[in-house]
Amino acid sequence: MPASEIFARTVAHYLAPIKRYLDDTSVTEVMVNKADEVYIERDGKIEKTDARFTDDEAYDAAVNNILQFTGKTLNELTPLIDARLPDGSRVHVARPPCSRFGTVVTIRKFAKSMLDIDWLVELGTLTEQARQYLHVAVAAELNVLVAGGTSSGKTSLLNALSSFIPKGERIVVIEDSAELQLQQEHVISLEARSADRYGRGQVTIRDLFRSSLRLRPDRIVIGEVRGGEALDMIQAMTSGHGGSMGTLHANNPRDALNRLETMALMSKVDLPLHALRSQVSSAIDVVVQMSRHIGSRRLVTQISEVEPMGEDGRYRLKDLFLLDHDPTKSTEAGDKVLQLTWTGERSTLAGRLRPRDEKLVTPAVEGLFKTT
Ligand SMILES: Nc1ncnc2c1ncn2[C@@H]1O[C@H](COP(=O)(O)OP(=O)(O)O)[C@@H](O)[C@H]1O
Ligand SMILES: [Mg+2]
Repeated sequence: MPASEIFARTVAHYLAPIKRYLDDTSVTEVMVNKADEVYIERDGKIEKTDARFTDDEAYDAAVNNILQFTGKTLNELTPLIDARLPDGSRVHVARPPCSRFGTVVTIRKFAKSMLDIDWLVELGTLTEQARQYLHVAVAAELNVLVAGGTSSGKTSLLNALSSFIPKGERIVVIEDSAELQLQQEHVISLEARSADRYGRGQVTIRDLFRSSLRLRPDRIVIGEVRGGEALDMIQAMTSGHGGSMGTLHANNPRDALNRLETMALMSKVDLPLHALRSQVSSAIDVVVQMSRHIGSRRLVTQISEVEPMGEDGRYRLKDLFLLDHDPTKSTEAGDKVLQLTWTGERSTLAGRLRPRDEKLVTPAVEGLFKTT
């Protein structure tokens, strides 16, 4: 029997109390706080369930069982553990002493299919006009960062944006744990791994990034930027890997640039701050800000382009789309409806589009790319 089969069977046995939630595609997350306290997330809402493990021993056995397959140590030195179920779902385990009241397990279900860009427009996450602008921006090889909070839909939007990468380009995807599902034919997918129980075999995002540059990518897509790889990414983006993209945890576009700068500094680089900022400014062309709203709603709240750094050493951002009241719409209660709206600003691409990208400019976005 292949190892994955054994794993699947043992997990099915030990995780029996929560198996129905693992199989239920409408459930996105299963959270076990203790043996008799299980919550699930469905449609963006958290619900308490009546599922329970028979006792603490059964729960511990289930957790140990998951972990044994991942080659991780089960001791106080590694109380926080990431693992993967056979179906691709991500498991995070927090154990004592870090988790003060016992072992906590969260299972983020592997999204079977990612939302595509048309769906996101239909859901109202972004407008048709913003979609068209982003299509031109990606095709014309601007470097795009998707910023947002936890679970704001960054990865989903990144995945959808990747569909704008023209066919035939060689794309290298780098992730901590495989989530993205690019539709293109020519995709190389790299996944980081943590060290085994003896501290061996760790491959970081930064390692993958450096190796990816030797894989001759046309574009690099990086699932989430969160460490020392930021500097490598910035330098790659400014030296011939235009059209790269990634996500980053940030509350607004300026915050995104500041965080990127801070992360780049983590790689102990001998670069004056002024020079680093200037590199960040020229590396990142567009920041798309996502945010999570009431219930399961996720919205693009802002799209800004990054201009060359100012004389004062500050980042300069030009907002192209902002949330604004739509005068033609209101809710049943008569409240105004917020909608992503073009500010009237022009894109830096105006007047610089290649003929093949000009073909993508429809009347709805003509104003953004006009020269006069
Ligand atoms: N635009 C959207 N509208 C509704 N739900 C969404 C949207 N984008 C993502 N989701 C859902 O929200 C959850 C988190 O999405 P994800 O893209 O992983 O967020 P992040 O990368 O910011 O953590 C997933 O369950 C996903 O299916
Ligand atoms: Mg994500």
